[in-house]
Amino acid sequence: MQAIHVDTKPIEGQKPGTSGLRKKTRVFMEPHFLENYVQSIFDGIGGITGKTLVVGGDGRYFNDRAIQVILRMMAANGAARAIVGQGGILSTPAASHLIRKRGTDGGLILSASHNPGGPDEDFGLKYNGPNGGPASEGVTDRIFARTREIDGYRIVEAHDVDIGTVGERALGDMAVEVVDPVADYAALMEELFDFDKIKGLLSSGFTLRFDAMHAVTGPYAKAILEDRLGAAEGSVVNAVPSPDFGGGHPDPNPIWAHELMATMTSPEAPDFGAASDGDGDRNMIVGKGAYVTPSDSLAVLVANATLAPAYREGLKGVARSMPTSGAADRVAEALGIDCYETPTGWKFFGNLLDAGRATICGEESAGTGSDHVREKDGLWAVLLWLNILAEKRQPVSQLMAEHWAEYGRNYYSRHDYEAVEADVAAGIMDDLRAALPDLPGREVGGLTVDAADEFSYTDPVDESVARQQGLRIFFEGGGRAVFRLSGTGTEGATIRVYLERLETDSDRLQMGAQEALAPIIAAAEAISGVRARSGRDAPDVIT
Ligand code: G6P
Ligand code: ZN
Repeated sequence: MQAIHVDTKPIEGQKPGTSGLRKKTRVFMEPHFLENYVQSIFDGIGGITGKTLVVGGDGRYFNDRAIQVILRMMAANGAARAIVGQGGILSTPAASHLIRKRGTDGGLILSASHNPGGPDEDFGLKYNGPNGGPASEGVTDRIFARTREIDGYRIVEAHDVDIGTVGERALGDMAVEVVDPVADYAALMEELFDFDKIKGLLSSGFTLRFDAMHAVTGPYAKAILEDRLGAAEGSVVNAVPSPDFGGGHPDPNPIWAHELMATMTSPEAPDFGAASDGDGDRNMIVGKGAYVTPSDSLAVLVANATLAPAYREGLKGVARSMPTSGAADRVAEALGIDCYETPTGWKFFGNLLDAGRATICGEESAGTGSDHVREKDGLWAVLLWLNILAEKRQPVSQLMAEHWAEYGRNYYSRHDYEAVEADVAAGIMDDLRAALPDLPGREVGGLTVDAADEFSYTDPVDESVARQQGLRIFFEGGGRAVFRLSGTGTEGATIRVYLERLETDSDRLQMGAQEALAPIIAAAEAISGVRARSGRDAPDVIT
């Protein structure tokens, strides 16, 4: 089998964002677009001769075609082995686990996460390193630099490899090993959690509903929750991955998982509800009528982790992204462990996890995970919750009430303004940045600004610095507003406004978040003019 060299030129728009390269699917399908980027990854990581890579994705439209191209390019670039999830399927956390378990040189994960899929929707590709985690900033920069100077790629001419059946076959000199996407991951979960305890809970009348949102977690959740743990058949819904996610938006938040929210607020609500996203790394947790914010979920998991076997000895530390609420900080303080504040993006947790400084990490964007892999992990969060509930035997709402009574409640909400014209969004951010030095001391609608800055982060392990990671305004009395541009969108700009306020008065712990945050919301608008300048009456999404 002959490897051919195809001449190309750099293609605009191949700069990776928060999590690899995300584009409209049709852009990925344009001539040489995918190939240029894949070759740039290979070159950017120093070539792949003799290397082994894990390959898999969330099953969205173009997943299968892209994998065939990647395999042919791997073979042409001299890779020794590709480990591929059957049918091209691997959830992001399962891919991370496989990379680590098999000691490979990394992997390619095909997904645009929670973005919709289909020919007119989104596609994505990212490289994860040998530790199983998203490429560091340094590696990402090298890949991007390659995309700017690339002049050709290598590929073999061959028929499609059969990736539909488990087993090993050859593509030129490269071995293609097709593996069951669920087995290793399910075994890992069984090591971490007390499956017998959870089985006991589920056989005691405790009911649950897991919404896979027509995405990749369907087969994982069926195998683990129904087959191994004994949840009633049908507890996992929308369980068959579909190329366009059933026409939906596989993002587990109250807006996009409205079907689950409706069930959980109805008289027939089960005891526990959860959902995951396109590629299985995000999660949403909801009790009977009780939505748990991702920031609160992180705090609860940190506070109760020792109830699960894997964390019985205690946590080394905890980390959260800067826009995530300070709820976990309060728990960490009580436990006497370190709490790190990183920029948005799971890649920033990698060094802390590798260095053993943090055990559990989480983000307001519905990601929680631990050092068992190097990605956030939706089902892991669900299972840790179930393990905790199996020990505590109390409704989610009661658990939350007790948590807030002990630590106080960080009221929290994120307001998103989507598809804002890029220059309008940049103008809003630039003006706010320029205004920061004059804000301290200013009174806005009854609130006084205490401090204001732009977040930058120095990694405590390798001392790399990430600048311009969000504009922060702190109010006297503990409130905070954070402004950031999303790094995962594919159209225009999305402005995210993160709002938070700590409440410790025991009579004021059961308010609605929007009500509790009203003064902060008003002050954030008065200072930034996001609504006025983007021409919106209200945010497009409130989480
Ligand atoms: C992806 C990353 C997360 C990040 C999220 C939000 O899901 O894996 O780590 O928090 O994107 O990114 P954005 O830039 O859109 O706010
Ligand atoms: Zn995801």
